[in-house]
Amino acid sequence: MRVVILENAEAVAEFAALQFIHQVSGKPDSVLGLATGSTPLGTYGKLIKAHREGRISFRRVCTFNLDEYLGLSPDHSQSYHRFMRESLFDHIDISSGNTHVPRGDVNDIEKEIEEYERAIEAAGGIDLQLLGIGTDGHIAFNEPGSSLASRTRVKTLTRRTREDNARFFGSLDEVPKMALTMGIGTILESRSILLLACGEGKADAIQKTVEGPITSLVPGSALQLHSRVTIAVDIKAASKLSQLEYYADCERNRTELGKV
Ligand code: F6R
Repeated sequence: MRVVILENAEAVAEFAALQFIHQVSGKPDSVLGLATGSTPLGTYGKLIKAHREGRISFRRVCTFNLDEYLGLSPDHSQSYHRFMRESLFDHIDISSGNTHVPRGDVNDIEKEIEEYERAIEAAGGIDLQLLGIGTDGHIAFNEPGSSLASRTRVKTLTRRTREDNARFFGSLDEVPKMALTMGIGTILESRSILLLACGEGKADAIQKTVEGPITSLVPGSALQLHSRVTIAVDIKAASKLSQLEYYADCERNRTELGKV
C-alpha cells in the first residue's frame, strides 16, 4: 500500500485530482470509479477547475459510482445521482450516457444489480476507483461484517453510518435504512484504487485499514489484498498510524525515482 500523508484536506484534494489527470491523460477513455460524500468534494472541485483550464477532458471517459440509497429517485435532493450531477457531471464535458450510478428506486432491484455488474464488465473494468471511508471502516456501503468477496447488492446501513449521514438529511429518521452498493469483491477488481480520508474522525478507521489485520469487521482492510492501492490522508486522519516515518521515507524515495 502506498500511504501519502499530506498537510490538509486541500492538499489531499490536489493530490487526488492529479492522480485522475494523470490517469485520463494516459488513457483518455478511462473507466473511473467515483464516490460521494464530503471527502471527494474538494477533488471534484479541483477536477472542474482543471477541466476549465483545459488540463483534462472527460469526453471519452466513462464513470461508475459506488452506491445509491435504496428508495431514492435520481431527482431526490439527497440521492447520489443528484449529488454527482451537481458536484461534478454538470460542470465537465462528460456525456451523461457515459455516467453510471446504480438506481435505488427501481422495482426489480436484482435486475438492476445484475445489469450494473455487467455494465462495469462491458466497459472493460474500472481503471481507477476513488473511495472514501466511513468512521466504522466501511468502503462504499460495505458495512462491518460484509463478505470480502461480496458483489453489488443491497446492504443495511449501520446506525453509526445513518447518524454520520444524518447531517445531509433533515433528521435521522429521513436517512434511508438500506443502500445499493458495489461489493468489496467488485471494488477489488479495479485496476487501481485511491482512498481519501481527512480529519480526526477517520484516524481510527485509517489505522485499522492500513495496519490492522484483514477482517470483514473493517471492510477497508480488504484493500491490503490489492496490489495498487494509494491511501491519501491529511495529518489528522494519519494521526493513529504507527509507521508514519516509514511512509514518509517511501514517498521521498518515490520522488527521487521521479514517480507521480
Ligand atoms: C459514498 C461512499 C461512502 C463514503 C463514506 C465517507 O459513495 O461510498 O463509503 O465514502 O461514508 O463519507 P464522507 O466522505 O462523507 O465522510
